[in-house]
Amino acid sequence: MRHFLTLADCTPDEVEQILDISAELKEGYEAGNRPSLLANHVLGLLFSKPSLRTRVSFEAGISHLGGTSLYLGNDVGWGKRETPSDFSRVLSQFLDFVVCRTHDHSDVEILATHADCIVINGLTDKYHPCQAIADALTLRELKGNLKDCKLTYVGDGNNVARSLALVCDRLGMTFTIACPNGYQLDQAFLDSLPNAHLMSQTDDAEQAVSDATAVYTDVWSSMGYEAEEAQRKRDFADFQVNEALMAKAPSDAIFMHCLPAHRGDEVTDGVMDSDQSRVVEQAANRMHAQKGLMVWLARQTS
Ligand code: CP
Ligand code: NVA
Repeated sequence: MRHFLTLADCTPDEVEQILDISAELKEGYEAGNRPSLLANHVLGLLFSKPSLRTRVSFEAGISHLGGTSLYLGNDVGWGKRETPSDFSRVLSQFLDFVVCRTHDHSDVEILATHADCIVINGLTDKYHPCQAIADALTLRELKGNLKDCKLTYVGDGNNVARSLALVCDRLGMTFTIACPNGYQLDQAFLDSLPNAHLMSQTDDAEQAVSDATAVYTDVWSSMGYEAEEAQRKRDFADFQVNEALMAKAPSDAIFMHCLPAHRGDEVTDGVMDSDQSRVVEQAANRMHAQKGLMVWLARQTS
């Protein structure tokens, strides 16, 4: 059974395969085709954090492919009513895929260990691989050869940053994170990547964006870190992506954000709504990339 918990488990070839299927399905969808590649498949969405993009893009995507979905909120009692292994063994009798969103990455690993269906990580505190796959699709569409691209992420070394580093590593893209001290990615993690020479960290945001193909940011306080919000606003004050910072980037650099954005904190209205902003295209590609991912995972497992 092949799961999708982190891009660390995928080879570069596998990431390319997922992107190729996604691009093909997207082209077909835009031409009016909705092939029933996952007819009668059932997707469960096991979410203990809120979601707009991940939930709706998976639900719409499986429907386009001929399948159906079930949203499973807190009432199913994941981690509360029975052991995690009993929960997983039973839930996976009913489903072909389960997309889960929670805090501890280890909870998703336990779910996958005991599951008899495909488990997809829809965000944990550590990783957000579906976001990174979709963003790679967006960059590939906009810029072509990703090996010529440099993604500069300005902000918290969080789940999104870690998954972006992984997708850049797999696709041979240069990745820099500009971040205040104390919020960086684990240097040992970056050093362990096959393309470690393409990865860097700095606290100089202006320098980091100066040769960027894309400038990316995410919220300063992720879900679950709300208690640290006041401190984080102080710590990240010099790391806002605003018009002045974008002026230091090449004029054809694009702006990216996984969303939801906290306008006025990590990004200004002016940047979010600028001609350089590709945030809506990114969100749209969540659906196309996840359709490709589901089809690819089903093929690995059949
Ligand atoms: N980017 C993202 O995962 O958005 P949601 O939290 O709305 O799913
Ligand atoms: N880093 C954010 C991403 C939301 C999609 C969070 O975990 O809340």
